[in-house]
Amino acid sequence: MSTFRSIEWKKDKLVLLDQRYLPEKTLYLELKTVDKVAKAIKEMIVRGAPAIGVAAAYGIVLCVQKLSKNDDPIKALEKADDLLRSSRPTAVNLFWALDRMKKIWREFNGSVEDLKAILEKEAIDIEHEDVEINKKIARNGVELVPFGAKIIHHCNTGSLATVDYGTALGVIRYAHEMGKNIHVFLDETRPRLQGARLSAWEMKELGIPHTVIVDGASGLVMRRFKIDLVLVGADRIAANGDTANKIGTYNLAVVAKYHKVPFYIVAPTSTIDLKTPTGQDIPIEERSADEIRRVGNTWVAPQESPVFNPAFDVTPAELISGIITEKGIVYPPFKENLKKLFETT
Ligand code: MRU
Repeated sequence: MSTFRSIEWKKDKLVLLDQRYLPEKTLYLELKTVDKVAKAIKEMIVRGAPAIGVAAAYGIVLCVQKLSKNDDPIKALEKADDLLRSSRPTAVNLFWALDRMKKIWREFNGSVEDLKAILEKEAIDIEHEDVEINKKIARNGVELVPFGAKIIHHCNTGSLATVDYGTALGVIRYAHEMGKNIHVFLDETRPRLQGARLSAWEMKELGIPHTVIVDGASGLVMRRFKIDLVLVGADRIAANGDTANKIGTYNLAVVAKYHKVPFYIVAPTSTIDLKTPTGQDIPIEERSADEIRRVGNTWVAPQESPVFNPAFDVTPAELISGIITEKGIVYPPFKENLKKLFETT
């Protein structure tokens, strides 16, 4: 268990660790409405694919809890669902969690009071499952981490991006707990600095040896420090293995290929979207220009300069050595093997 919780359910409110202010301030927000949850996802108070899925599920619970006898529950829930779905488009875990919740109210024909209880139970299940899944992922992935490994990681995939433990950082954490004497190089991850602000903070809290690097340093670092592997998370894995993750992941994969460094995606199966055939079909979120032009209150580019700010990119399957999931490690050919993963379990 980590010393903090990124997300915590307290009967009638959702408590979020506000990730915009870390590591400077540890600030918790209490949310009591679905509107506030949707806003928190959009503004990245809560972020990371699994964490936003869990937050959205609790958003639905907050909506149903507010209903009175005269309200039409289906109408209200469908509206809340639409709102949450419009918050961030790329991470499929958001839609996966909402699909689970929606299936319940669409198939339910009891009282509103019963619906409240059953939706709350489903959200709690999604939350608890996430922790167990991450532990399984870590156990599967650790076999790929040699003793003394030097690893590059992008963005933040730890306890902050999940309910607890993490995906790619979960594998790193488990390797450290096993005494594998690892060292992790953390891409700072422009423009929101999830690597520098969040991953470095988590590694520091856990006592895991780490070094923060700028995103552009990965080539030099691979050449100079003989990196053993790259471990990154995912926001959506298409049926052919193409993977959307934080902007900069694709560059890292290209550099890893050149240096013959194995490049692994680490994600729960809820991030695999067999309905999306290829990376070209994954919607890529574009965020505000000021995220690039400004760091905090300081302008680092002219206010008038046009900006292109995609929050994610797609790494083509051919650059990916394997996908580490809770059900095992999937190797190429991904199209066949990802399909098999869902058929066998
Ligand atoms: O924009 P963010 O910070 O939500 O992006 C997060 C990532 O890209 C993570 O790598 C991904 O969601 C996996 S988190 C376990």
